[in-house]
Amino acid sequence: MIKAVRGMKDILPPETSRWQHIETVARQVFACYGFQEIRLPLLERTELFSRSIGASTDIVEKEMYTFLDRHGESVTLRPEATASVVRAFIENRLDQGAEVKKYFTIGPMFRYERPQKGRYRQFHQINGEALGGEAPEVDAELILLLMDIFARLGLTEIALVINSLGCPLCRPAYLLELTALLARKGRDLCEDCQRRSTSNPLRVFDCKSKVCQEILTQVPTMADHLCDACVQHDERVRELLGRYEVPYRSNPRLVRGLDYYNRTAFEVVTTHLGAQDAVAGGGRYNGLIKELGGPDVPAVGFAIGEERLVALLSQQDEGLALPPLLYVAVLGAAAMDQGFDLVQTLRRRGVAADLDFGQRSLKAQLTMANRRGAAFVLILGDQELTAGEAPLKDMATGAQQVVSLTDLAAICAALQGKGV
Ligand code: HAM
Repeated sequence: MIKAVRGMKDILPPETSRWQHIETVARQVFACYGFQEIRLPLLERTELFSRSIGASTDIVEKEMYTFLDRHGESVTLRPEATASVVRAFIENRLDQGAEVKKYFTIGPMFRYERPQKGRYRQFHQINGEALGGEAPEVDAELILLLMDIFARLGLTEIALVINSLGCPLCRPAYLLELTALLARKGRDLCEDCQRRSTSNPLRVFDCKSKVCQEILTQVPTMADHLCDACVQHDERVRELLGRYEVPYRSNPRLVRGLDYYNRTAFEVVTTHLGAQDAVAGGGRYNGLIKELGGPDVPAVGFAIGEERLVALLSQQDEGLALPPLLYVAVLGAAAMDQGFDLVQTLRRRGVAADLDFGQRSLKAQLTMANRRGAAFVLILGDQELTAGEAPLKDMATGAQQVVSLTDLAAICAALQGKGV
């Protein structure tokens, strides 16, 4: 048996209807905020990611699916979408016009991580990206949008955590101070943090080791070193979140796994998913477009992890309501022919209808209808065909009514009572 590649999973019904629901709601909310869809290739030149995400991040150092194509060019399955959005923005000259360009994109990402609950090697994200706006209102709008998606999905028990990571004006001095401090702690830090303290010092805040965490409580954070402009930006974002009653928690130790962020950084976390607690993450990436050869245009964005969102919503409720199904149980060849015709006519009227082709007993067909969650079963045999009417059984109550086979409106009306 050929199995799926480790860390990549099939998404099967009925779970797929939850995915559809999430994506439908996200699309509706994006539309309200003026975000348009952008669809991008899954494969990009490797340097796009190494230059944007950061050479010393876990993603670029050890998690990318990188290979040489038949022409010997190094290509990579995208580990995230922001770099590709920026590449497309530059390549297609989407910077024309003064307005903020707002895009969303939904699709799979690939990271060669150690698979565990909530962490896969192929996973899916819903990304929202706003390019061309410097104002803190753009950050606030984007976070409000993100939280609206969660609210519209009825997601509770999540927390928005925010921080400011400073800018090229104030961060370098802080990084120097942090590096010097970490150098003094030297061998007390775990091996990873010793390495990070020179290559990517902010990342030490993400270390899970208790010893490192203890040391880090004594280390000053970026929040204490922000320049006036960064403080003002941060305060305005928080003020707007407060105005629309979006609760958030400040965490001056929040850092992100990608290097392109400055100023606003945020995550949406939950206590219900074990170790993989972030359902979404994002922030401002003002220097990235210029860094990748485009105009000096600021930007901000987020990505929701769909697998984690699906897991959270499944924990919260029973499942999604599907359109009520009419199942036609057919007994004999003539009934099969008539049943096929009836089902086909109903489908063309927008009613979900189905039948079985296996010439099984009535009992077996009723069991099948039950398993499918049918709202009604119409029972068709030779006798019913002759009479021109058949019993319609309500599967929830067991009640039966006899309907005329030519009176499709009555069948539709019965289903409409179930919310067709
Ligand atoms: P990220 O924090 O790396 O950010 O990923 C965003 C979300 O994707 C995470 O919060 C998580 O829910 C989900 N995720 C990440 N890795 C995995 C995995 N291996 N398995 C399952 N889910 C996963 C970014 O990717 C940025 N590009 C977000 C962004 C957009 N920043 C600005 N714009």
